[in-house]
Amino acid sequence: MHQEVSAAQMFDAFKKDAPGEHAADSRWAHTHGLGVTGHFVASEVARTFCIAEHFQGHSVPVTARFSNGSSDFVRHDERPDTRGLAVKFHYADSTAHDLLSMTLNVFGARTREDFLGVANAFVPKPVQPESWFRRHILDPLMLRSPLPTLPAGVTVSGGPGLAQYAGSHAFVRAFTIEAGLSQVPVSWARTAYHAVHTFVAVGPDGERRPVRFTWQPVDGVFPVPPEQLAAKATDFLTEEMRARLAQSATQFTLKMMIGDPGDEVDDPSTSWPVTRRTVNMGTLFIDEVAQEQLVDVERLSFNPMRLPPGIEPSGDEILRARGEIYVLGSEERGAIGCPLHSGQGSAR
Ligand code: HEM
Repeated sequence: MHQEVSAAQMFDAFKKDAPGEHAADSRWAHTHGLGVTGHFVASEVARTFCIAEHFQGHSVPVTARFSNGSSDFVRHDERPDTRGLAVKFHYADSTAHDLLSMTLNVFGARTREDFLGVANAFVPKPVQPESWFRRHILDPLMLRSPLPTLPAGVTVSGGPGLAQYAGSHAFVRAFTIEAGLSQVPVSWARTAYHAVHTFVAVGPDGERRPVRFTWQPVDGVFPVPPEQLAAKATDFLTEEMRARLAQSATQFTLKMMIGDPGDEVDDPSTSWPVTRRTVNMGTLFIDEVAQEQLVDVERLSFNPMRLPPGIEPSGDEILRARGEIYVLGSEERGAIGCPLHSGQGSAR
């Protein structure tokens, strides 16, 4: 009989991908980050597409966390990585809505089973030193595909295992290629973040549209030129954001792409054509660094299934599994849902 892979099995497989040590009170992914506060103001048209509270036009307070995707115990802002932006919208009735996003436009699995395969392939292994034969004979003859370039000092990596897995599993290819091309942004405020999964936005007329969300930085996307990387400190993104916010707020525009009939809605491993209708839903103003990093943000739980009336999940299995996995992660590290409001004080 077919037994569904449980969220606990997925979480266990995920933990095996973490390189090195892990602290009991830290996140198993996106371990290093910076908490910030600000507000979101919807565009004029937003409320005509979705009834969710933050799209009605008044200013909605937010707590957000910029992060590096790695679960490495040691902070490495200067390494290529998938960056994250988790935003918590605080509603007037003390509930909250979370929107989690990352710099990749796709995920590397469609189903719970897929995820176990990818997680197993990604378990870090010692990086093989290049053999003379490969470097001098195979490379010049271009008889092999290039392995992902690893930053200096990295001795174990899941990258080569993932690249090999992608050779025989098409669903993980777009993710592997995007991850392999990841750059280091000059700032967490100079890169775009994608929520990846399809959600259903409910309009005031009851129309239900399949949608995908992306945060676009108002200052534009800008990576560190490779020749400048060596001079970057391991916490440069954190320090850059502190300095930036001491001067003025930074902004992101929330873009909502609307799927056409026939577009894949339950599969986060594929992206939609860029020609899809895209609506500007509003602006996120990141005003300042959170005063109490530990209490207000590091212990906070974000969950992609913490959805408000007006935004519903699609049938995406990975999205729904994440809803359970983040509860497990939050409970394990003693996190809370929303410290600013009573009633959401649990990890759920
Ligand atoms: C099955 C797929 C995935 C698994 C198993 C997974 C797992 C995790 C875990 C365990 C955490 C730490 C949670 C905590 O302790 O509170 C985390 C954090 C995070 N994940 Fe994922 N993740 C997945 C997919 C994704 C995707 C597709 C995105 C982006 C769209 C994403 C974005 C994030 C972000 C931004 C954080 C940091 C949240 C924060 O700052 O608290 N993850 N993930």
